[in-house]
Amino acid sequence: MTARKPEIALALDVANQQEALAWVKKTKGLVDLYKVGLQLFTAEGPGLVKAIQKEGGKIFLDLKFHDIPQTVQKACESAAALGVDLLTIHALGGVNMMQAAAKVMQSNPLRIVAVTALTSHSEEAWQNQVGQKAALANDALRLAQNAKAAGLAGVVCSALEAKNLKTKLGDDFVLVTPGIRLSGGNADDQERVATPELAVQNGSHVLVLGRAVTESKEPCVVLQNIRNDIKL
Ligand code: C5P
Repeated sequence: MTARKPEIALALDVANQQEALAWVKKTKGLVDLYKVGLQLFTAEGPGLVKAIQKEGGKIFLDLKFHDIPQTVQKACESAAALGVDLLTIHALGGVNMMQAAAKVMQSNPLRIVAVTALTSHSEEAWQNQVGQKAALANDALRLAQNAKAAGLAGVVCSALEAKNLKTKLGDDFVLVTPGIRLSGGNADDQERVATPELAVQNGSHVLVLGRAVTESKEPCVVLQNIRNDIKL
């Protein structure tokens, strides 16, 4: 069996292209994917994606699309044309929407993954939105199963849920895990955190690192240590 190597994604949670490119230049060779989210993409647009690619960086475009199937399919086509490697949509957009997105993967080399339930939802908030009978953990699994059935490449999930999802959905289904923290590190506003080693043991394929790296005094040392710990 050849185990797939996990990938490190660095969340570029910064306001502008200048700051984003400074991180890309500084962390070259230590990061596999740069995560561009709503804040940065809304501020800087596709030009920023091109600028990171020019530096040799691969892009994880975290825009979490959620709209009618045709609109999402077209948006995924636009993302594919930008040459992004990884893209997020919302599983709550429905199976038809996910199937429409999955069609884009048939003719483009990108991986589209679904967000099941946002980690910012509490059980109470989830029930308030989805219905009194809703149960977050069950719903997250059901939404992940829908994502797989629709033909998507994987889901975004907590590293703590990854083990269960890997068992139920197989090793080829990509698990992207935010909320990674170093042992003894600050959890910030994340509730369900895991160390890089635990995330990989649980079956995570893409470890999303944000503040654990960007707020450290020596970000490159932290990244190198993580790579050593997970044998990259
Ligand atoms: O700084 P931190 O490691 O918490 O950053 C995690 C990154 O992953 C942020 O960009 C955050 O928006 C993103 N994310 C998350 N939880 C999700 C999906 C994305 O924390 N379910």
